[in-house]
Amino acid sequence: MNAAVLPDRDAIIIALDQIADPKTGQGLASAGLVRGLTVGEGRAGFMLEVAAADAALYAPVRDAAERALLAVAGVRKAQVVLTAAAKAPTPGVTRVRKGAQLAPDPRADTHGMPPAERLEHVRRVIAVASGKGGVGKSTVAVNLACAFVALGLKTGLLDADVYGPSAPKMLGIDEQPKFEDGKLSPLRVWGLKVMSIGFLVDEASPMIWRGPMASSAMRQMIQDVRWGTAEDPLDVLIVDLPPGTGDIHLTLVQKLAVDGVVIVSTPQEIALIDARRASAMFRKMNPPVPILGVIENMAFFPDPATGAPIPIFGQGGARSEAERLGVPFLGEIPIDIALRKGADEGRPLVATMPDSAVGRVFAAIATSLHGPRP
Ligand SMILES: Nc1ncnc2c1ncn2[C@@H]1O[C@H](COP(=O)(O)OP(=O)(O)OP(=O)(O)O)[C@@H](O)[C@H]1O
Ligand SMILES: [Mg+2]
Repeated sequence: MNAAVLPDRDAIIIALDQIADPKTGQGLASAGLVRGLTVGEGRAGFMLEVAAADAALYAPVRDAAERALLAVAGVRKAQVVLTAAAKAPTPGVTRVRKGAQLAPDPRADTHGMPPAERLEHVRRVIAVASGKGGVGKSTVAVNLACAFVALGLKTGLLDADVYGPSAPKMLGIDEQPKFEDGKLSPLRVWGLKVMSIGFLVDEASPMIWRGPMASSAMRQMIQDVRWGTAEDPLDVLIVDLPPGTGDIHLTLVQKLAVDGVVIVSTPQEIALIDARRASAMFRKMNPPVPILGVIENMAFFPDPATGAPIPIFGQGGARSEAERLGVPFLGEIPIDIALRKGADEGRPLVATMPDSAVGRVFAAIATSLHGPRP
C-alpha cells in the first residue's frame, strides 16, 4: 500500500453528489451541504450543517454520506458531523468548486452575527475560563457545579473543551447521551445534568479535524440540548471552557448568552498574565460578559505536619489580580490530594466530602455567586 496517496477529493465530491438533499433534491455537494471537507490519509469527513428543525430529517443523510465516503477508494474512516446551525450561508464561507464549501473561519463570523441567544429553560449561565491550560479549570467547574447542587439548585454542566473533554472522566460517565425528539438529553450524574462535547467529537479524531469541527459541534451543544422544560427549568448551567482565547470562546459568546464568567488562575505570574488576557477578551465581547470573580487554584500546599500553608506557586497573586480587575476574589483552593484523586476516579470531592476543608471553600464560592440558600 502506498501510504502517501490520499483519497481523491473529486471522487469524494462526485460520490457525495449522488446523495440527494431531501430539501432541494440536488446532490449534497451541489446543494452546498458539504462543508469543511477534510481528506487525509485513509480518511475523509465533513460537516453537514442544516437548520435546527431539520436535524432529524438529515440523520439518514449523514449515515448515507458516511457510507458513500467509505466506498471511495482509500477511505477507511469516514466522519460526517451533523450540526444544526444557521439556515443562511455563514459570512466568510469560501466556495471552492461545484458548490462544495470550506468551513468558515469562525473569527469572520463576528460581523453580522445575530445577537447571542438565551438557552431555553436555563435561568443562568456561568462560564469557567482561564487563559492558561492546566490550572484546574475543569476541576473547579465540576466541583462548583456539585456545590450548586448542594445549595439545592437544579444544575447543569456543559463541558465545552473540544481539545480535552474532562467531564466524562471527572464524573465517571461512560454512556452516551440519547437523541430524543430531535434533542439531546443530558446525562444525569451526581445530581447534575451533564453534556460534554466529548460525546460528539471522537477523541481519536486527529487534531486537524477538531478545529473546524469544534465550532459547529459547539453550536450543536448550544442549540440541541434539552436542559430543562418550562415546568422544570435549570437554575444554573456551568460551562467548562477550553483554555485560551480562541474560536470556541468566540462561538460560545456569540451564540450563547453567558451571564458571567469565573476566571481560574494559579498564583503564578505566567498564569495571571493569561488570566488577564482572558478577562480582557470577555470584556471586549459585544455585549461584554461580566467577570463574576477570580478563583485562585493550587493556592498553597498545606504543611502535612501543621496544616500551615506553603505557597508553592507564590502568594496572593490572584487576589491582587482580582483587585486590579475590580472584580470579587471568590476564594482560594489549596493543592489537595483528595480533590485530585476524586477527579481522577470520577468522584467529585464536593459531592463525596462536602464537609472537607476544600468542600467548604467550594460551598462558600457557590454561595457568593448565587446568594445564600433560600
Ligand atoms: N487544587 C488542586 N489540587 C490538586 N490537584 C489539582 C487541583 N486542581 C487541579 N488539580 C489537578 O491538576 C490537573 C489539571 O486540572 P484540570 O484538568 O482541572 O485543569 P484544566 O485547567 O481544566 O486543564 P485544561 O487546560 O487541560 O483543560 C488534574 O490532574 C487535576 O486533578
Ligand atoms: Mg479542562
